[in-house]
Amino acid sequence: MNQMNDISKIVSAPPAEEPARQRFYIEKMRAYADEAAARLGHSLRFCVQTFGCQMNARDSEKLAGILSDAGFVPSAEETADFVIYNTCTVRDNANQRIYGRLGYLHTLKKKNPEMIIALCGCMMQEASVIEKIRQSYGFVDIIFGTHNIYKLAELFDNYISSGRSRIIDIWQETDKIVEELPVQRKYPFKSGVNIMFGCNNFCSYCIVPYVRGRERSRKHEDILREIAHLASDGVKEVMLLGQNVNSYGAGLESEIRFPQLLKEVEKIDGIQRIRFMTSHPKDLSEELIETIAASEKICRHIHLPLQSGSSRILQQMNRKYTKESYLALAERIKESIPDVALTTDIIIGFPGETEEDFLETMDVVDKVSFSNAFTFLYSKRTGTPAAAMPDQISEDVMHDRFDRLLALVHETAKAENKKLEGRVLPVLVEEINRQDETLMTGRLSNNAVVHFPGDASLIGTIRNIKLAESKGFYYIGELQ
Ligand code: 5AD
Ligand code: SF4
Repeated sequence: MNQMNDISKIVSAPPAEEPARQRFYIEKMRAYADEAAARLGHSLRFCVQTFGCQMNARDSEKLAGILSDAGFVPSAEETADFVIYNTCTVRDNANQRIYGRLGYLHTLKKKNPEMIIALCGCMMQEASVIEKIRQSYGFVDIIFGTHNIYKLAELFDNYISSGRSRIIDIWQETDKIVEELPVQRKYPFKSGVNIMFGCNNFCSYCIVPYVRGRERSRKHEDILREIAHLASDGVKEVMLLGQNVNSYGAGLESEIRFPQLLKEVEKIDGIQRIRFMTSHPKDLSEELIETIAASEKICRHIHLPLQSGSSRILQQMNRKYTKESYLALAERIKESIPDVALTTDIIIGFPGETEEDFLETMDVVDKVSFSNAFTFLYSKRTGTPAAAMPDQISEDVMHDRFDRLLALVHETAKAENKKLEGRVLPVLVEEINRQDETLMTGRLSNNAVVHFPGDASLIGTIRNIKLAESKGFYYIGELQ
């Protein structure tokens, strides 16, 4: 039987309430996709490209869920009929990459005029970006931001019903969290779960609070329902996502805070590993450390962004902790949670950073002995307090410090990983190794990567692997 919907039959007004309203528009989108498929002789394909962090990766899964429900089929190729770039703006090089790739998308659109191009995510929350796209990238069809990802189907409908005129829908702020919309996960066995959105910390270098808005926590009932559903769908590992998970629950009516939330997640059958990202050092409580230490499921990994080891620079950054308090916290975590891996983010070249300040950062890296660190060159973000600070650091000085820091991080990572060499530990097998198809790749509880000989039937299972050889940032293992 022909299941095709006739677009003209969907004439009723859209419901005002969410998520019913979006479900209405998803149906309408499906009618459009069916009609186009019949006309073109193939299903419409979509390609969502994600830039940036795990939050964006999760948002992209929501976009993919809406598009799949609407009858589009996923494609990894940008020759697809509907291409969405989910952008990042945390550092300027992320923005430059987008502009570069838009040029390429333009050549594809010239070959396929029916192609639809959408941009969304953090970069779109900046007025200067919207202005530039308006002026110089006339071929972009739909533009939305971080607060209205859930509205994709409605925006698509606005675009089609307006006779394909460009749609720009950017919200400055929202208190709305729309639940129960479709999601298409990248991995069947693990999933990110948003527990909160936005950030209230206003670190002086960071654009995130401006583009992701004020902090809002999801209700714990909604989070737990989502995770129970994921577990029943075969998910073994969840990553609880927020810019500062340690302040989860602030502003909610219920008393539940992050440690209690973790304990509730732990009770869900089928979930075997719980991760979270990111912890702000100023809010990481003793209770949280005890909760992790006592837990069977919470992974032995804490990502604890340092940003700088100089108390003077930390104050300028508005981080609200000092070198000493960070070191004391790292020490307490290591004492209380055996085998824990600490990883971090560090910014090099914050305005006014002297050689002495930089050496303080090196000192903290050396003392804490991080298992890994994401190191970034300071990037000036217009509108943040740091952009207007004097003494911006020259590129040469930044690069020199960056190289020295990286060399030290290699050393500490190597030393930390060496400690587990020879042990047999559980690994969640995630994928076939990208370089060598005879190897499988997975992760330890502490997030370190392990490659070992095996086959694809192991993907999604947790196996005991002997960590035969530590190679610095990863291990070569043997299936037991
Ligand atoms: N320049 C360089 N790095 C930055 N980060 C955030 N803002 C900037 C910036 N303006 C880094 C921080 C943060 C990580 C996600 O990105 O280290 O923890
Ligand atoms: Fe940016 Fe600081 Fe918020 Fe992290 S905590 S998103 S670095 S403002």
